[in-house]
Amino acid sequence: MSEPITTTPGIVPVPGVKRSSGPRSLLPLGSAYAFGRDPIRFALDMWHRYGDIVRIRFLFWHGYLVFHPDQIKHILQDNHRNYTKDIFTLNAFKAFVGNGLVTNDGDSWLHQRRLMQPAFHRKRLAAFGTLITGTTVEMLERWQGFAEQGQPLDIAVEMMRLTLRIVGQSLFTIDLSNETETVGRAVTTLSKLVLDYMSAPFPPLWIPTPRNRHIMSALRTIDTVVQDIITARRQQHTESGDLLSLLLSARDEETGAGMSDKQVRDEVMTLLFAGHETTSNLLAWTWYVLAQHPEVEQRLHAELDAVLAGQRPSVEHLTNLPYSRMVLEETLRLYPPAWSLARKARAGDCLGGYAIPAKSVILMIPYVTHRHPAFWEEPERFDPERFTPERAAARPRYAYFPFGGGPRQCIGNNFALMEAHLILATVAQRYHLHLVPGHAVEPETLLTLRPRYGLPMTLKPTEQHQLR
Ligand code: HEM
Repeated sequence: MSEPITTTPGIVPVPGVKRSSGPRSLLPLGSAYAFGRDPIRFALDMWHRYGDIVRIRFLFWHGYLVFHPDQIKHILQDNHRNYTKDIFTLNAFKAFVGNGLVTNDGDSWLHQRRLMQPAFHRKRLAAFGTLITGTTVEMLERWQGFAEQGQPLDIAVEMMRLTLRIVGQSLFTIDLSNETETVGRAVTTLSKLVLDYMSAPFPPLWIPTPRNRHIMSALRTIDTVVQDIITARRQQHTESGDLLSLLLSARDEETGAGMSDKQVRDEVMTLLFAGHETTSNLLAWTWYVLAQHPEVEQRLHAELDAVLAGQRPSVEHLTNLPYSRMVLEETLRLYPPAWSLARKARAGDCLGGYAIPAKSVILMIPYVTHRHPAFWEEPERFDPERFTPERAAARPRYAYFPFGGGPRQCIGNNFALMEAHLILATVAQRYHLHLVPGHAVEPETLLTLRPRYGLPMTLKPTEQHQLR
């Protein structure tokens, strides 16, 4: 898995430090084509052939695939200052979300993260519980007709709509439903075009090609609504308890300064994008795995029946619903919505005994590490029992990192888990979901990992629900 160190211009060989091996692509694009076509298959294949650190080339860039938890810990946590988010694709994402938390870097990122962290405190988030279950129940009422007629619904689309409504309402408390529709439509359009633009940002946005005009029009729609809301809120001086009001009232501890309108806009856009598609895909995959594992589904229903006894789930119930939480955690292992994380090395480094030159692009792929056989027995088997507190504590921290780690760990992780837990309990209390027989399901690596052909499912009322 290693080869003797060779001298590359600009790299000083260190005695005892090896150069990692990888494919010798003679194509001008290096591994970019194979990676772009099917990144997960490519990464799994590289890991099988070359091991835990694999050197690849993208055009002129050195790239490294890093799969081992120890090295992931080094990058995300121990030596995180050496690894920036100054990555080609993330820079393209800036055209949409500006300098929000996901794309920001260095001191400016740290300043923003400190300002925003209190808004995501677990206790504050609990206030959104009723909003989440209420919005879910509204969706279930719409499902009733489909259930009665045995008509399938695309559950991936349903989960996307639901989490978009929830993030919109938690961010702005938009009860102006027409505007929600407009923003919702624009965000959906943009979500589809973001990836296209991120993978090929040519021609740049200021050249009015049909795609770019489409992007700009959706961006203007969202910007206008977001800007109007910020202006109105600044004038009102009232607290509405949503995330936006927390961002507007956040103050730097030392200087007392708040965020500018531009910074608030960028953070809001970032939360809109980062905060719905990931959670929606976690839920879509959860319905899929439950439909494949009746014994797990049965245990989940037994827990819900015993704890809820027919009541609507609330945040207070969640600590008494550990099995449903473990189902979500195991789904995040097999189908991590954020399927890859990228960094660029500022200076050369040494990873697991291998020399990494400055400016190398590092890719960490939770989808592969979450199947690493040194840490996961029978990795492909769906088994929520892996997440009992004892078994989880016995694993290295970075064998499992669906929310990343270190200082840049997902700020919305508690929100996402609370939201998914409440939605899972509220829906499962009423329905069993069955995949339409013969429908092909496979992961597709877009911005997030989603079911490629959607998820048509039929609904069967639970006994609890029938009794009502
Ligand atoms: C299941 C749902 C979610 C998953 C799997 C997920 C995953 C991730 C991951 C892996 C990162 C780190 C990326 C990196 O280090 O390169 C991240 C960052 C981030 N996430 Fe999430 N996320 C989820 C839900 C949310 C939600 C609900 C929000 C907001 C409401 C959110 C907001 C953010 C933000 C702002 C960052 C950037 C944090 C920073 O760099 O300071 N995420 N997320």
